[in-house]
Amino acid sequence: MTVSSAPGKLYLFGEHAVVYGEPAVACAIDRRARVTAEVRGDDRLRVESRDLTLDGFTVEYDGDAGDEMDVDVPTPLVEAAMGYVEGAVEQARDAADAPDAGLDLIVESDIPLGGGLSSSAAVIAATIDAASRELGVDLPPGDLADRAYRVEHDVQDGQASRTDTFCSTVGGAVRVEGEDCRRLGDPPNLPFVVGYDGGAGDTGELVAGVRELREEYDFAADTVRAIGDLVRRGERALAAGDVGTVGRLMDFDHGLLSALGVSARSLDAMVWAAREAGADGAKLTSAGGGGCIVALDDSRATRTALKYTPDCETAFRAELDREGVRAEE
Ligand code: PMV
Repeated sequence: MTVSSAPGKLYLFGEHAVVYGEPAVACAIDRRARVTAEVRGDDRLRVESRDLTLDGFTVEYDGDAGDEMDVDVPTPLVEAAMGYVEGAVEQARDAADAPDAGLDLIVESDIPLGGGLSSSAAVIAATIDAASRELGVDLPPGDLADRAYRVEHDVQDGQASRTDTFCSTVGGAVRVEGEDCRRLGDPPNLPFVVGYDGGAGDTGELVAGVRELREEYDFAADTVRAIGDLVRRGERALAAGDVGTVGRLMDFDHGLLSALGVSARSLDAMVWAAREAGADGAKLTSAGGGGCIVALDDSRATRTALKYTPDCETAFRAELDREGVRAEE
């Protein structure tokens, strides 16, 4: 039996613009997906899911398209979750040169599903790591991140940047610009507060919306470039440990993302609640349309304000997690 975990992440700066080659900075946070893998005697795959926002479910099948899944939750949700797990298992089988290996998997996660904190990337990275180690192969982080990216890329029809899978694999704060992914030196501990509206935006639709806007309006292309400039400033502020400037730039970034049409009433309500509570900065994080905001505040005020914000379902403090994928036990 082999157990691995991987962290979720939030975008500090640069989501959406990263799709057009601008840099982005993301931080792994101390909310993890944990996957237990155990080889079984046949070539089947059994996946048991626990504590995901999606109700727990168990699926046993042989991966054959004709093999009906017998489950009691809506099939599209299960199929989406299974797409990631199945892709990750394929990568592990490939890495171990064991195409017919059967596995029992248990997936547990405390990352809100679909809210923009990269629950899928964390599940993919932890699954590839646990399954490949269970099959006798220790993948170096670069290879693991690459394989995790391929899974997300395939399942999301090419709409994914490398940010989520790279950040979940290596942990800490990362910078992504096109194919170039790197970990940032020694980032300060930022006092993250996350507000979650309980929903999720449709990433594909939101990315397509920004693409159309950018093609039609010069202001949108300029906005994407402005986000890139802001990210470069943000990197310098981060390197200098200047939390005040990081927060200010987060506020600007939220404004620019709103101009691109990817905010939502619930996200704006949470962002303003955080600002009025005295946060150093607040913005939506990831695709937008719904899901999470991130604010910086080392006092309790923002979390309390978010708890009393009708659009906010849950608010929690998060720490930068300097560790990426890791073996458990
Ligand atoms: O919703 P997520 O976590 O897949 O984030 C989407 C962020 C985008 O920049 C819009 C796309 C991407 O893959 O970076």
